[in-house]
Amino acid sequence: MAIERLVEPTAAENDSEEAKIEISLRPTTFKEYIGQEHLKNNLKLAIDAVKKRNDGASLDHVLLYGPPGLGKTTMAGVIAHELGASLRVTSGPAIERAGDLASILTNLKDGDVLFIDEIHRLRRAVEEVLYSAMEDYKLDIVIGKGPAARSVRLDLPHFTVIGATTRTGSLAGPLRDRFGIIHRLEYYKEPEIEQIIKRTAGILNTEISPDATTLLATRSRLTPRIANRLFKRVRDYADVNGDGIIDTKIAEKSLELMEIDYLGLDPADRNMLRLMFDNYGDKPVGLTTIAALTGDEATTIEDYYEPYLLQLGLLARTPRGRVVTEKGKNHLKGDKWTKI
Ligand SMILES: Nc1ncnc2c1ncn2[C@@H]1O[C@H](COP(=O)(O)OP(=O)(O)OP(=O)(O)O)[C@@H](O)[C@H]1O
Ligand SMILES: [Mg+2]
Repeated sequence: MAIERLVEPTAAENDSEEAKIEISLRPTTFKEYIGQEHLKNNLKLAIDAVKKRNDGASLDHVLLYGPPGLGKTTMAGVIAHELGASLRVTSGPAIERAGDLASILTNLKDGDVLFIDEIHRLRRAVEEVLYSAMEDYKLDIVIGKGPAARSVRLDLPHFTVIGATTRTGSLAGPLRDRFGIIHRLEYYKEPEIEQIIKRTAGILNTEISPDATTLLATRSRLTPRIANRLFKRVRDYADVNGDGIIDTKIAEKSLELMEIDYLGLDPADRNMLRLMFDNYGDKPVGLTTIAALTGDEATTIEDYYEPYLLQLGLLARTPRGRVVTEKGKNHLKGDKWTKI
C-alpha cells in the first residue's frame, strides 16, 4: 500500500478547504508571480508585442511543462490576466470526444485563452481536431451520416491554447510543433520560496519569523505548492501549541512531527530509496520494479517522487534503470533532522 504523503505535490481535491486556500493564494499578475524570471521575460515580451500590434492576431500557443506544483496553472491565469483575455479551463481527460472540443472551440471569442491541463492525455481523435484549430483556426466537422454525410469547415475565433503537462515526452510530435512558445518550469531557488512563504503568511495573516521562513523554505522541495502546504500545517501547529506565531522552534517541532527531513524528504521518499538500496544495492532498478517495491503506480514514481530526488542527486537515471547515488546512500545513513 502506498503511503499517503503530505509533501505530495499534486493539487488538492476540487472544492476541498485546501483547494479554496490554494486558489486564494494564486498570483494573478507577473508582478505577484515570484521566480521563473526567464519564462516571465519571454512571455512579457510576447504579450507586449501582441498588444502593441493590435492587429487581431492572438498570442502564440504556449506549452508549459515541468514537475507538479511549480505554477503552470497559475501561469495560465496570469497570462490571460495580462492579456486582458478570458480564460477557459479544461483538461485532456475531460474532453472525451471530438464533439466536446468542437463545442468548446466554437464558444470562444477572439483573443480568448483556452487552458488545457494534462494535455498529454488528450485522446487521438480530439488531438487531430485540435491540430487544424490551432494552426488555421478552422474546424472540420462532418454533418450527417452515411452517403449524405458531408464535411464542412468552420472559421474559429483567434484564440490561444495554453497547454500544461508534467511530461513532454508523451506529447505527440505534431501537437508539440503547434506551440510557438514552449517552456519548462524550473524548480525555484530557496530565496524565491522564502518570498512565496512571506507572501502566503501575509495573505493568511500569520506572523512568521525570518529564521522559520528560511527553515520552511529549505524543506519545501523548491516547490511553491509544497511550501504553501507546509506553511498551513505549521500554522495549525502554532495555533494549537503556541500563540499562533511561527518561530523556528514551532517550525522545527511541526516538521519533525511530519517527519520531513532537512532535504524536504518525507517517509515515502526515504522508504523508496531504502527499498531500492536494500534490495538492489548499486544495481540499476527498473521503474516497474520500484513501483512494485513501494506499492505505487509507476507513473506516480516518475511524476512525483523522482524529479526532486534526481534534482537533488540522490537518485540517478541510467539506461538500465534508476540507482541510489553515493549522496543518496549517505542521506539514508546520516542524521536527517538537525542540519539545515
Ligand atoms: N510563482 C509563484 N509565486 C507564488 N505562488 C505560486 C507560484 N507558483 C505557484 N504558486 C502557488 O503554488 C500553487 C500550485 O501552483 P499550480 O497549481 O499553478 O501548479 P501546477 O504547476 O499547475 O501543478 P500541477 O502540475 O499539479 O497542475 C498555487 O496555488 C500557487 O499558490
Ligand atoms: Mg496545474
